[in-house]
Amino acid sequence: MTVLVTGGAGYVGSVTTRLLVQSGVEVVVIDSLERGDKTRIPNVHLETGDICDFPILKKILKNHDVKSVMHFAGYKSVQESLHKPNLYIENNVKKSIQLFDFLFEHNVKNVIFSSSCSVYGEHGVKLLNEKDACVPLSPYAESKLQVEEYLASARGVRASSLRYFNAAGADLVLNIGENPISAMNLIPFLIRSIFRNDNVQIHGGDFDTRDKTGVRDYVHVSDIARAHVAALRFLEIGEDGADIRTVNLGAGVGRSVLDVIELIERTTRLKLRYSLVGARKGDPSYAVADTEKARNHLGWFPEHDIVSIITSAVDWFRISNQR
Ligand code: WQD
Repeated sequence: MTVLVTGGAGYVGSVTTRLLVQSGVEVVVIDSLERGDKTRIPNVHLETGDICDFPILKKILKNHDVKSVMHFAGYKSVQESLHKPNLYIENNVKKSIQLFDFLFEHNVKNVIFSSSCSVYGEHGVKLLNEKDACVPLSPYAESKLQVEEYLASARGVRASSLRYFNAAGADLVLNIGENPISAMNLIPFLIRSIFRNDNVQIHGGDFDTRDKTGVRDYVHVSDIARAHVAALRFLEIGEDGADIRTVNLGAGVGRSVLDVIELIERTTRLKLRYSLVGARKGDPSYAVADTEKARNHLGWFPEHDIVSIITSAVDWFRISNQR
């Protein structure tokens, strides 16, 4: 059987695609390459195009026995979504639903969806459980929740929405990491800032957390990829009993922004110049996973700790800047 991977040129999508191929799974990737990096895609069949280009989808389904889809394609910036909400509803929600409607009509019934811990919103300092209320703080988070709800209501479909906590790090064997120049998430942003000796602003100096900065659960991209392979096996085998419709992908360990700064300074032996400013719109104070369901229902737990994550991200920056 073949797995259709949308957004396979993306950060998590490309690492997962490599892992699927290594696991002996046949993969077809569809990616518009609008934001993805083609060099990340290994020697698998790539169709360059929009995920709602139905002639392309028809050709893929005619030439490959596709029964499962991993849907990574989507915009993923909280901050961008606050400025361009319609773009996120259009691209992340409407296109996903059109894609799934088409695939379900063509007997593709196993779905793994790249969701996000941002669906939870603000819950204060507590581990987030899949049963917790979801009150999104941004159009990005809202878009992820709407697709989750669409999948949960789909009949005759086995779907797993994987709620990534903060994906980070680089897979140096696969030579894949976040774009060291343009990635705006905390870790790549701080690493390029410390090497450039930039003086940066850090958000969140007024949260009700231990050191008043935002606390997140950082998970290595390779661990997140492993969870996708585990979830696919689960859906294809059809093991009843366990419920993986929504699963947190986190380590269950919270690190504040100041913790991350200290770890990056220790790893690079450099000093970051920064000033603390107020919290950004759309940022919850604390997002750390309750990992029980991932461990007990999916049999998954991250292997990389925060030191491994940051070390790999620093090494990735150094390698990328030697090119
Ligand atoms: C982390 C912390 C910021 C940048 C989002 C999505 C999540 C996932 C990752 C896809 C926060 C602070 C950050 C900066 C800062 N998306 N920060 N200055 O917003 O937690 O999560 O991206 O996988 O689904 O919700 O990630 O790295 O932007 O922020 O102070 O320049 O770092 O306030 O406390 P976020 P982030």
